[in-house]
Amino acid sequence: MNIKENYKNPFKPGAGHSPPYLAGRSKETEEFLKLLQQETILGNVILTGLRGVGKTVLLEKFKNLAIENKWLWTGTDLSESASISEETMALRLMTDLSIVTSDFVIGHQILDKIGFNSNQELIEEKLSYQKLLEIYNSIPGLVADKLKMILEIVWTVTKDYGKGIIFAYDEAQTISDQAEKGQYPVALLLDVFQSIQKKGLFIMLVLTGLPTLFPKLVDSRTFAERMFRVIFLKKLDPKESRDAIIKPIESAKCPVKFTEESVGLIVKESNGYPYFIQFMCKETYDIFIQQNARGEQGNVPMAAIIAKLDMDFFAGRWARATDRQRELLAVIAKLPNSQDEFTVAEVASESKQYEIDSFSNSHVNQMLSSLANAGLVYKNRYGKYSFAVPLLDQYINRQNIIRKKSGNE
Ligand SMILES: Nc1ncnc2c1ncn2[C@@H]1O[C@H](COP(=O)(O)OP(=O)(O)OP(=O)(O)O)[C@@H](O)[C@H]1O
Ligand SMILES: [Mg+2]
Repeated sequence: MNIKENYKNPFKPGAGHSPPYLAGRSKETEEFLKLLQQETILGNVILTGLRGVGKTVLLEKFKNLAIENKWLWTGTDLSESASISEETMALRLMTDLSIVTSDFVIGHQILDKIGFNSNQELIEEKLSYQKLLEIYNSIPGLVADKLKMILEIVWTVTKDYGKGIIFAYDEAQTISDQAEKGQYPVALLLDVFQSIQKKGLFIMLVLTGLPTLFPKLVDSRTFAERMFRVIFLKKLDPKESRDAIIKPIESAKCPVKFTEESVGLIVKESNGYPYFIQFMCKETYDIFIQQNARGEQGNVPMAAIIAKLDMDFFAGRWARATDRQRELLAVIAKLPNSQDEFTVAEVASESKQYEIDSFSNSHVNQMLSSLANAGLVYKNRYGKYSFAVPLLDQYINRQNIIRKKSGNE
């Protein structure tokens, strides 16, 4: 019998791929459930954390919970929207809105009730994208005014259905205000939601993204600080990591078991980061199935798996850095606190110990800011930096590109 054909590998490394078993996250889920029950919308949600920590798959779980609790849910992945303008932000929101409104019918009564004067003859019509756009275009004023009016109309039409509407945007750190172009899509989003929520409309924002997201919102509008409940997703603890590894194999009823030793090794080497757990388990599973078919005992070739991880996950990001940026990243990776927070001054001072042209404070500052734009590091609210990619320091250290000055060994 070919065992491999009969037992499908359950593990799913890959952005947004639902894991076979979603480990941990019960506190975060409870917090979200509480927000679904609020009497007026005082807290919107930010779901944030490092690359691959599980934001997108948890957002998917939140979506199911929201729908079960009678919320309408819409939204999208914003990763392609780097230079969004105010007008395109408005169109984006309406496009997403039409997905949940197109079954609802609008008529004169509703428009009159909210004080919207439509001169044209309007029969009862479905709230399709075309209809929303038509109404939007006929509203005078600024983009924000038009949008608020649209949301009020939609709210009036849909409010008897259930709790309210949630707009959920993944990779939301990609949208930016652009002062040089006079375009403030982030400010628009915040202004509009704050204003309609003050009026008591149950329309809520759930934004997901890298840790650069929240500071970016606060930079745009200081009141964003009070508008959001920030859920910072951490790595899984050892018990949760074990669940993520063991449960899928149990439920796949596979004849191959991961030995206690291999589970321990994966927990340790993945350091609890969900993407790495899925990646290492997938590889290990394939290898064990084959070893098993040959009648051999399971052994995790961790060095080979890490080499593959380097190629598949890290190499692309590393390739985009310039030589000088790589030197700077290598210096950071040598810091004892590289997995935690570090300061500009610490990096500049550490750089003097290596056989490279050292970096001045202002140089470090400048370069960290472009590395932040590239999504490799992020700056927290207190001006300290961290790597935005988990275990990046270990990868960089494996590249071995800088050496200590002799006498400093
Ligand atoms: N709680 C969990 N238990 C087990 N596996 C998980 C868990 N959360 C995420 N994963 C797995 O980790 C991987 C990354 O998840 P996901 O794409 O949701 O991360 P992310 O934070 O959105 O990453 P990115 O920053 O790249 O968008 C996926 O393969 C997913 O199946
Ligand atoms: Mg994601």
